Amino acid sequence: MKTKRIAIFASGSGSNAENIARYFAGNSAVKVACFISNKKDAYVFERARKSGIPSYYFSAGQFKNTSDVVDFLKKENIDFIVLAGFLLKIPENILQAFPQAIINIHPALLPEFGGKGMYGDRVHEAVLAAGRKQSGITIHYVNENYDEGEIIFQAACNISPNDTASDVAAKVHTLEYEYFPKIIEKTLNLLF
Ligand code: GAR
Repeated sequence: MKTKRIAIFASGSGSNAENIARYFAGNSAVKVACFISNKKDAYVFERARKSGIPSYYFSAGQFKNTSDVVDFLKKENIDFIVLAGFLLKIPENILQAFPQAIINIHPALLPEFGGKGMYGDRVHEAVLAAGRKQSGITIHYVNENYDEGEIIFQAACNISPNDTASDVAAKVHTLEYEYFPKIIEKTLNLLF
């Protein structure tokens, strides 16, 4: 069976990207081929170096106005794209080149607390401000609107009365590390 090649897009720390790469290391069916970031100084580049994963920078302008990213992904024979803390909107040319083959993780229970500008601690602060007793993760296909593609998987965690945004973030990260790699694997098996 042909090895499925994944590109992981990350704008920040990249702890999910690193966790996914670790999960698939040594798996002959799935290869994390590269990390891609739109932030030159993102910590994900340091993680890539430590993990031995090739990593590449493309500017927001290249994403939005050129075919550089699609050309690169095709050249690298990428089958599947994973967004792990990636903050740019995915442009039409990438969506068209990878139909039903791009997934995102969102650090809350969509459809609540999603949309433009809702990332990282902003999400957790909004969940706390709304007085929710639970938060969680949503893994979904990516379409032309932020956080609106078909939901593949959700998992919830409880929020304690004194939790801060960083407490909620830690609980959400625990869920992300446990489930995201497994759901990627499952989604790949369904796809090809
Ligand atoms: C993750 O919690 C992910 O769900 C979130 O950013 C964090 C990235 O952490 N994504 C979004 O908020 C997207 N709207 P990481 O860089 O350590 O993997």
